[in-house]
Amino acid sequence: MALKVLITGAAGQIAYSLLYSVAKGDVFGKEQALSLVLLDIPPMMGVLEGVVMELQDCALPLLTEVVATSDEAVAFADIDAAMLVGAMPRREGMERKDLLAANVKIFKSQGAALDKYAKKSVKPMSHGLLSFKVVIVGNPANTNALICKKYAPSIPASNFSALTRLDQNRAQAQLAGKLGVAVEGVYEAVQDDNWLNNEFISSVQQRGAAVIKARKLSSAMSAAKAIGDHMRDWWFGTQSRWVSMGIISDGNTYGIPEGLIFSFPLTVGEDRSWKIVDGLDISDFARENSNLHMNDSASSKWIHHIFIVAKYNIIL
Ligand code: NAD
Ligand code: LMR
Repeated sequence: MALKVLITGAAGQIAYSLLYSVAKGDVFGKEQALSLVLLDIPPMMGVLEGVVMELQDCALPLLTEVVATSDEAVAFADIDAAMLVGAMPRREGMERKDLLAANVKIFKSQGAALDKYAKKSVKPMSHGLLSFKVVIVGNPANTNALICKKYAPSIPASNFSALTRLDQNRAQAQLAGKLGVAVEGVYEAVQDDNWLNNEFISSVQQRGAAVIKARKLSSAMSAAKAIGDHMRDWWFGTQSRWVSMGIISDGNTYGIPEGLIFSFPLTVGEDRSWKIVDGLDISDFARENSNLHMNDSASSKWIHHIFIVAKYNIIL
């Protein structure tokens, strides 16, 4: 049976890379048939029509159906997975928090739509989780995830996540460059604390702004890759690998207050339940900076795992 996957902001630039990747099986597997539901706002329906034509013209064997809509009631009904990308991106000179006024209302409305229309009839999985998964990408992603969750009170918080994988991927690429190894080969220790605490952290932190300055548009290809990595690892599990996802804090781990959507290092089991990698020794430097940024939604999305990465000289 085809999986029903919702992608919002489907006429936008991230979606333009993401749709092809999902539709050809990079995320849910090379054998899994897909019904793609594409949501955007009414003025973008013409553009979205063109995107649908292109998807059709890719002649992809897994793609059994494409539904383009501007109606949340249609979009959120019976979904198995949702990638909530549709939101305003920042431009040069803006902070992510400047997007709150424009974007929070989108996630309020979509949270309510999830609560009302998403697949609640499915049999819960063995551990009581509903099977569908939601990743929030629109910025500021962690705050928007919190809003979305708040307006979907009947859906367990553990079904929601915020995308922080792009920052992990950036960190991994920087470390690979420093070590002179391929990205999968980042197992050696980086011994240069000065580089880790300064250049490394600031280059990962500022990378989004650097891309915007250069492209005059925010990251899209790399964001789409990260969304695919995030959802694939949630869907199929990570075995012993650690991955970064913004998830709800239960207040018991690393001193992060309960209820905050925060990026933790996680492993994901075969049953799609995530588990925080607990008990890592966080340096004073890391903790200080983490606390510093705790209330800053623009920074907290990357800060936690970056500092764990820096402290542990890296196993990603
Ligand atoms: P874009 O402007 O190219 O596309 C956004 C699309 O969303 C547009 O087509 C727009 O019409 C649509 N949209 C707006 N309101 C909507 C709604 N209510 N429902 C459905 N669709 C709606 O932007 P983009 O470059 O694709 O970026 C999308 C978002 O992702 C931005 O907020 C950006 O900051 C964020 N982003 C997050 C990360 C991350 O790591 N979390 C990475 C990159 C980008
Ligand atoms: C990124 O980090 O590239 C995204 O969060 C987009 C942005 O505004 O920086």
